Amino acid sequence: MKQDMIVILDLGSTENTVVARQIRDMGVYSEIHPHDITPEELGKLENVKGIILNGGENRVVDGEEVVVLDVLYDLGIPMISIDYPQSKCEKQFSALPTEEEMKAFVFDVCKSEANWNMKNFIADQVEIIRRQVGDKKVLLALSGGVDSSVVAALLIKAIGKQLTCVHVNHGLMRKNESENVVEVFGKQLDANLVYVDATDRFLGKLEGVADPEEKRKIIGSEFIRVFEEEARKLEGIEFLGQGTIYPDIIESGTKTAKVVKSHHNVGGLPEDLQFALVEPLAQLFKDEVRACGVELGLPAEMVYRQPFPGPGLGVRCLGAITRDRLEALRESDAILREEFAKTGLDKKVWQYFTVVPDFKAVGVRNHERSMGYMVVIRAVNTIDAMTASIERIDYDILENICARITAEVPSVSRVCYEITPKPVATIEFE
Ligand code: XMP
Repeated sequence: MKQDMIVILDLGSTENTVVARQIRDMGVYSEIHPHDITPEELGKLENVKGIILNGGENRVVDGEEVVVLDVLYDLGIPMISIDYPQSKCEKQFSALPTEEEMKAFVFDVCKSEANWNMKNFIADQVEIIRRQVGDKKVLLALSGGVDSSVVAALLIKAIGKQLTCVHVNHGLMRKNESENVVEVFGKQLDANLVYVDATDRFLGKLEGVADPEEKRKIIGSEFIRVFEEEARKLEGIEFLGQGTIYPDIIESGTKTAKVVKSHHNVGGLPEDLQFALVEPLAQLFKDEVRACGVELGLPAEMVYRQPFPGPGLGVRCLGAITRDRLEALRESDAILREEFAKTGLDKKVWQYFTVVPDFKAVGVRNHERSMGYMVVIRAVNTIDAMTASIERIDYDILENICARITAEVPSVSRVCYEITPKPVATIEFE
C-alpha cells in the first residue's frame, strides 16, 4: 500500500463519516472500523499511523457500554479519543477536534504523509485486484451508471480481457445511453462487452401492468433473469465485480449504528451462480468515485451524470407502459437534458427529468383539435434525496423547452412544470 492510514474506531459516534471525510480532505486516507478490532486485524491494515477512538451517543448497546480492547493501548500507535471518557489516550477531546487540532494529530503526532490521491488509490487497487483475481475471470453487470462504469474502467485497467461486462438494455434507458456504453467500453476501452437488447422481453412482461411496485418487481426480477442467462453462457467465471461504495457499507449498519438499509448488490442470483465478490470502490465516498472515474479517463458526462433509478424510464412512463408514450418520454427527456446542458442548469440541479402520465389532453395542431400526451418537467435539489426543493427555472428557459418539445415530439400537446417539494411529493411520480 502506498497510503498512510488513520483508523477511526466506532464507539457509538454518529459522526464517523464526518471524521473520515475531514482526514481524507487533508490528503490522508482513513477508514472506519468496529470498536472491537483486534491487534491482528489492525496488523492486516497496512500503514496504520494513528487511531481515533470515536465515542458518542450510541455508546451503550443492549445495556452494555462498548469499549476497545485494552491491548490496543500497548501497540505504540498514537491515539486520541473523542467523546469517550474512559480512554487512556494522552489526548482526549469531548467534542470533534478543530481542523488545527486534527492536523496536529495526523501530521505532527502520527507523522502521516498526505499521500491519499486517486493516482495512488488506483495503483493500489490494480495491485489488490490482480492479487485477488489471479488468472481467473470476472463478470460485471454494467448499467452505465457512475459506480458500475468506474468499477468497469478500474477492472479493465487491472485485468483487461479477464473481465466480461454484461450490459442489459431493458428498453427503459434514456436516449443514447446504451449506445454510449457500447461506444465507451466496447470500442474506446476495448472491453469484453456482452450487449443484450432485451427491450421486447421487458416491454412484453410489462404490458398492461399499471401498479408501480409491480412494475419495479418485474423489471428487477427480469434483470436478474437476463443477467443469469448471460452468466450461464460464459465459462470459468469465478468472481463478480460490484460497484459497492462506502456509504452502502456504512448504511448497512456498523455494530453500534442502526441499520439504515441493507447493503444492495446484484442479489437474487441462484445458489449455483454465487461468485466471490470484487468490490474495489468499497472504501470510496461518491465524490471520490467520480474523481477516480475522471482519473481513469472516463467521459465527464458519464462520471458526473445525475442519479437515474434502476427501473429507468419505466417509473416515469406512468401506469401501464406503451411504446409510443415511452418514445414521447425518451425524446422529451433528451430535449430537457440538452437544454439544461446549454444553460448550465445541468451543473446546478441535482436531478431533472420528464414524466408522461397515461392520459391524453386536448390540443390544436394544423387548426384541428388533436389529442396529445402531457409532458411534466421535474427539477429538484437535495442533499440526501430524503427531502427536496424545486429549482426555480427561469420562464424563458421553460418556454423554450416547451416550444422544442411540442415542435419535435408531435405526440405531445402540453408541457407542465411541477412545483411540489418533497415532502409532500416524492421526487419520482411512481
Ligand atoms: P423518491 O421518488 O423516493 O426518490 O423521492 C428518491 C431518489 O431515489 C430514486 N429512486 C430510485 N432509484 N430504484 C432506484 O435505483 C428505484 O426504484 C427508485 N425509485 C426512486 C429517485 O430517482 C431519487 O433520486
